[in-house]
Amino acid sequence: MRKALLATALLSSLAAAEPTIIPLPKEMKVAEGTFQVVPETGIRHDAALDGIAKLFAAEIKERTGSDTKTVREELRIMLPSEIRLDLDSSLPLKPGGYKLEVTPKGVLVTGKDIAGAWYGTRSILQMLPPKGAESWRAPAGAPMPLVSINDEPRFGWRGMHLDVGRHFFPVEDIKTFIDSLAFHKLNTFHWHLTEDQGWRIEIKKYPKLTEVGGFRDSSPPYGNRNSDDGKSYGGFYTQEQIKDIVAYAAARQITIVPEIDMPGHMAAAIAAYPELGNSDIPGYAPKVQTRWGVHYYTLAPTEETFRFVDDVLTELCALFPSQYIHIGGDEAPKDQWEKSPRVRELMKKEKMKDGHDVQSYFIKRVEKMLDKKGRKLVGWDEIREGGLSPKATVMSWRGEQGGIASAKEGHDVVMASNSHLYFDHYQRPAAEELAKGLAFEAIGGFRPVSSVYSYDPVPKALSPAEAKHILGVQGQLWTEYMKDFYKVEYMAFPRIAALAEIAWTPVERKDYNGFRTRLDGIMKHYDAAGIRHGMPLDPPKRETKDGSTVQTSLGIYQEHWPEFAYDGKPETFFWADRALKAGDHLTLTFRVAVSGKAKVVTGGAASRNGDKLASGVLEASADGSKWSEIAGFNDGTAEGSVPAGTTSLRIRVTKPQENWLIVHEIVVE
Ligand code: ACM
Repeated sequence: MRKALLATALLSSLAAAEPTIIPLPKEMKVAEGTFQVVPETGIRHDAALDGIAKLFAAEIKERTGSDTKTVREELRIMLPSEIRLDLDSSLPLKPGGYKLEVTPKGVLVTGKDIAGAWYGTRSILQMLPPKGAESWRAPAGAPMPLVSINDEPRFGWRGMHLDVGRHFFPVEDIKTFIDSLAFHKLNTFHWHLTEDQGWRIEIKKYPKLTEVGGFRDSSPPYGNRNSDDGKSYGGFYTQEQIKDIVAYAAARQITIVPEIDMPGHMAAAIAAYPELGNSDIPGYAPKVQTRWGVHYYTLAPTEETFRFVDDVLTELCALFPSQYIHIGGDEAPKDQWEKSPRVRELMKKEKMKDGHDVQSYFIKRVEKMLDKKGRKLVGWDEIREGGLSPKATVMSWRGEQGGIASAKEGHDVVMASNSHLYFDHYQRPAAEELAKGLAFEAIGGFRPVSSVYSYDPVPKALSPAEAKHILGVQGQLWTEYMKDFYKVEYMAFPRIAALAEIAWTPVERKDYNGFRTRLDGIMKHYDAAGIRHGMPLDPPKRETKDGSTVQTSLGIYQEHWPEFAYDGKPETFFWADRALKAGDHLTLTFRVAVSGKAKVVTGGAASRNGDKLASGVLEASADGSKWSEIAGFNDGTAEGSVPAGTTSLRIRVTKPQENWLIVHEIVVE
């Protein structure tokens, strides 16, 4: 009985630590106690949330192992334990906003709209123990902290991009990726479907795009980017597969923005239909490219090409309901146009002075096509070259300048800067990654998760009115150095978590330390769900046994973290990395006040004379500033009575010693 009480007390104290939610909600209050999700817990929901309730029930079932009932709100069917999903469009929140109330009796999510209700369920999943955790098997059920959340996204475009041109990932991988985006409340998947090295979307009117353009003869192997593996490589998505993926994403409140990259990055399409390129130049010999980098082949700005583009966009729009269609526009070399007699003639006729004007002419023609189809054009910031088309939205990737200039001109902008948001860059120093093997090669750069987190999508150069044009923010995954989905996830996570927080959480609430602590919890979800991830460069936060915190004036020897002095595990300990000075300390601050008997054991290493504390005191404090001695150290051990109301215990060194210090465990009973 006493054991059971203790276990409950421990659970509730654990639950009151800051819940593991990324992105951090706009407003959140946490109370002592838990709601227990048990096998009998069912979902009662608004009829408009049928789809979400079913998906969520399947996720709960995965964890509890029992059939999770879903019941429409109006049905008078009793559920012994309930999670309710409701809608209220009058909530004073932005689209995607929601309220979440967890009490010991039940859980209530109220979405401003369907997306909001979905995001409420994402917060619930993150607060529950990871899939397969021991607590799911306990008869009492899995604990959820008691919270009151009022939440809404900062930006409407919370995007993640994936290049499937350089490497192709099967349908199941794309769905897994979409699940992971949804877990982080991202809402836009920018699907980069065409490249010099491969065309990946079936277009019925132009079958050779995939038959020819979908395959290349060779690729550079890891470890030697200027060489060829000599292996045929390719693949593409059929229109049926695309429809399936679009529906899968929509059910998870994710819009897919497809990209057909033009007029550059088109070598695969031009290899399939050579008449689309600048075929009137000397040495014209298009092929699906087998090396990375920017290639020379661009579409010719001819009527025949524009008919092709229009046809492709017609099929694309039939597959993708997205308001935005991405037409690329990046890295289109102007050399072929300058050499082509046909293009030079066009330039004369249209009074274009250079290649930039041709680029602008091209993009403006495409914008008119999309306009007729009722869609909006978005393109990389090179679409500014030669003048931006009137209604274009700009994706700023070459730093922020293109985004700043476009917003000042009144254009909408998505920030996708390669200064912080290119997840094909290394997360840890290159030498360290490469030491793990050639397959850990990245294109270059260095972008740890902390740096992604530091990014604010609203550039300082913008006035509040101009800043309204920032639709949001997006991370990029270019896949030259990601031959399989394992590597995609390894590069994407956990940086996507940082992206999600800068895309969602109010900037005033940003707090890297809090994020870093929550990230450890989120990475446990990744591990349980089989999502591969890199490790942040800064050390993972270690845990004390109940959410208390430990600080020390001493350095840390190897991986013997201060938290190990109070983790309830005899096999771990804190180990200082130097001789001690008078005044050095290790201070434990409890989450809730304690009293009883304290015992602190120092030393333990057979080497280094045991590294015991020779001269020191154990002190207690109720406020963290006034301290009273409760015991001295005798042969490395201190035992004393802890007065009621104690919130901190401190081990204080009173005389210098040559030996270092091991604190094995602090026990309060
Ligand atoms: C890009 O990285 N070429 C948009």
